[in-house]
Amino acid sequence: MRGARPSVLVVDGPSLGALGRRDPALYGTATYRELTASVKAWADDLGMDVESIQSDSEGGIVSAVWAASGRLDALVINPGGYAHGSMAIHDAMEGFDGPVIEVHLSQVMAREPERRILVTARAADVLICGAGTAGYRLALELVPGMMKA
Ligand code: DQA
Repeated sequence: MRGARPSVLVVDGPSLGALGRRDPALYGTATYRELTASVKAWADDLGMDVESIQSDSEGGIVSAVWAASGRLDALVINPGGYAHGSMAIHDAMEGFDGPVIEVHLSQVMAREPERRILVTARAADVLICGAGTAGYRLALELVPGMMKA
């Protein structure tokens, strides 16, 4: 709920539920479960409330973002492969009432040319990529300052 403690929705898109067994050399060895546990611990540390969701479907992500807008303060989102082509997720991010931070585990700019096109990031206030799971922590750290802006 919007209140004294900043509240953040953390959204992970398609195939991120398979973290840990999905190309560990690229995406790291932490499972999605471990990532959400870390995100919760980092949020506690920073005095924030966090809700985490993972969806493999574009519509699921769009609905989750709209449902959180006005209810939670900030959005941290890794749209996964949808980042490179989903105007629908872009539009939901653009409609979010509050700071929006897009995170990618891998350094997408150093990968295939198609991944350098980040349709969704045009609707993000901040883009973090290539920092692995620490990118989520960095994103949470940025939230309070962005709320004041
Ligand atoms: C990713 C990068 C995307 O290109 C890819 O499709 C993913 C993961 C990342 O976190 O590095 O699913 O979003």
